[in-house]
Amino acid sequence: MNMNALKEELDGDSGMDVWTEVVALDQIPQLGSRVIATDTMNIAVFRTASDEVFAMKDECPHKKGPLSQGIVHGTSVTCPLHNWKIDLASGEALGPDEGCTNVFSAKVENGTVYIAFR
Ligand code: FES
Repeated sequence: MNMNALKEELDGDSGMDVWTEVVALDQIPQLGSRVIATDTMNIAVFRTASDEVFAMKDECPHKKGPLSQGIVHGTSVTCPLHNWKIDLASGEALGPDEGCTNVFSAKVENGTVYIAFR
């Protein structure tokens, strides 16, 4: 182990994700979302038809529309304001549009959704 890695380990800041329990999966409608308010932003947690979960800032890269109010189809969501399609995994606008919103890693364990914060 090099000294930097050792220092990070001792500092408790290894750059590892910190998984935080946010909501029960069954509290999120399929093809819909729940909004999780944090100190710095609202995060939309989406649930797909196959019960995958994705988390991203609840703000469209176009004009900040509330993505949490959009419709999920496959692994993308359509913004309710001007119908941009946003990829849930990358936060990138699809098609000819360009823009990206913050995404967070999300997972389900034993029916509970966790989001990774750094
Ligand atoms: S604000 Fe989302 S498409 Fe315009």
